[in-house]
Amino acid sequence: MKLCMIGTGYVGLVSGTCFSDLGNDVICVDRDQKKVNDLKKGIIPIYEPGLDELVLKNYKNKRLKFSTDLKDSVSKSDIIFICVGTPSKKNGNSADLSQIYNVAKEIRSSISRFKIIITKSTVTVTTGDVIEKIISQKVSKKKFSVVSNPEFLREGEAIRDFYKPDRIIIGTTDKKSNNLLKNLYSPLTSRGAKYINTSRRAAELIKYASNAFLATKITFINEMANLCEKIEVNIEDISIGMGLDKRIGGRFLRAGPAYGGSCFPKDTKAIATTADKYKTNLSVIKSVIKSNENRNSLLLKRVEDILKKRIKNKRICFLGVTFKANTDDMRDSSSLSMIPSLIKRGAKINYFDPTGEKEDFKKLKNAKFSDNINSAIKHADLIIIHTEWNDFKSINFKKEVQNKKFMIFDMRNIYSPVKMKELKIKYFGVGR
Ligand SMILES: NC(=O)c1ccc[n+]([C@@H]2O[C@H](COP(=O)([O-])OP(=O)(O)OC[C@H]3O[C@@H](n4cnc5c(N)ncnc54)[C@H](O)[C@@H]3O)[C@@H](O)[C@H]2O)c1
Repeated sequence: MKLCMIGTGYVGLVSGTCFSDLGNDVICVDRDQKKVNDLKKGIIPIYEPGLDELVLKNYKNKRLKFSTDLKDSVSKSDIIFICVGTPSKKNGNSADLSQIYNVAKEIRSSISRFKIIITKSTVTVTTGDVIEKIISQKVSKKKFSVVSNPEFLREGEAIRDFYKPDRIIIGTTDKKSNNLLKNLYSPLTSRGAKYINTSRRAAELIKYASNAFLATKITFINEMANLCEKIEVNIEDISIGMGLDKRIGGRFLRAGPAYGGSCFPKDTKAIATTADKYKTNLSVIKSVIKSNENRNSLLLKRVEDILKKRIKNKRICFLGVTFKANTDDMRDSSSLSMIPSLIKRGAKINYFDPTGEKEDFKKLKNAKFSDNINSAIKHADLIIIHTEWNDFKSINFKKEVQNKKFMIFDMRNIYSPVKMKELKIKYFGVGR
């Protein structure tokens, strides 16, 4: 099939590449000329394990193309996936859908034969209705169908998630589109992926409801960790004990920093705001948002306690600054508020991240990037394990850190407190 992905970011590039690998002809379009030029040269703009080889392979065999020409790419394709950003509105909580609506307006003149227009971006309920209205102002309704097919891939495991999704949600009542999409996804459904056909609005809501639920799970266990710290119980025991219950499940049940990333913070706010619009109070989600927003100051308070309130001139090393491992995505990472806040109080920050130096910290006077773990931790007073990269799981701290009084605050509970005690390292975890 001939596909066009509009927006070549984490979602558009990964799913476009994987669709081309399944034998489809795919054009990935982006308005960012540099991104498109780089991709044509084999430079991949994001860090996603396994993506480089897959892009190069399919670009070479010409099933995958890159372009900035939206209109031409749409007119050559049968199925159009909208994968542009839907961030929170500036100074507000609702989703900014302007990129989506701009695309809807832009593609109208390129629809001269039947096309399926799909929102893969996370969009508020009824967005599909608005897209349909915008396009139908210029194009006969017989020539297009607007479908919701939300994306559930996780950064860091995006390729695996594409090939082995838990479910494929297709929101449409149009039989023709449903059949074409069943066919498109048949290489995945034949391997066991569940294909669920719902109404368009239901598909849009499934995505938000899923993200809000996962954010709730994380927040729930983070609050349990707060209690565990007061009563000398190990949160890891609670996670395992709860997670083995099949009704609960162990994933997203590990205590740590506030949830971040490009989805949960904006999506929880967007669904709560949407519900307000329909005079429905999503009180659980609203408390989750509040609790998560408080978590950064709570963990900073722990840093303060660990350092006995003497933060000034302390050398604090962050291992990992992205919101989770195996991605370079910094959007809404808790390090973005923690690092400047510690610097404000006089700390000197050194950080290492396997995905390299971050623009966000370049302007900060006392934030220095080290290009390897050993030099990052060498002179530290306090080492904060912020992100759960495998690279951080077997560090010989005793050998590498020169300051013999160093301490570790393991926000991901990677290390065993018992072993750390045996090594005589002052070690603090979360919820234990
Ligand atoms: N990142 C994730 O893990 C993830 C997972 C599931 C769903 N989503 C959702 O998918 C959507 C996209 O997320 P992302 O992380 O891939 O975003 P992103 O910011 O990485 O990529 C979006 C791309 O769209 C391009 N773009 C914007 N307007 C355009 C236009 N008119 N024409 C061509 N290109 C245009 C931008 O230049 C950018 O490269 C969001 O709604 C997000 O919530 C993201």
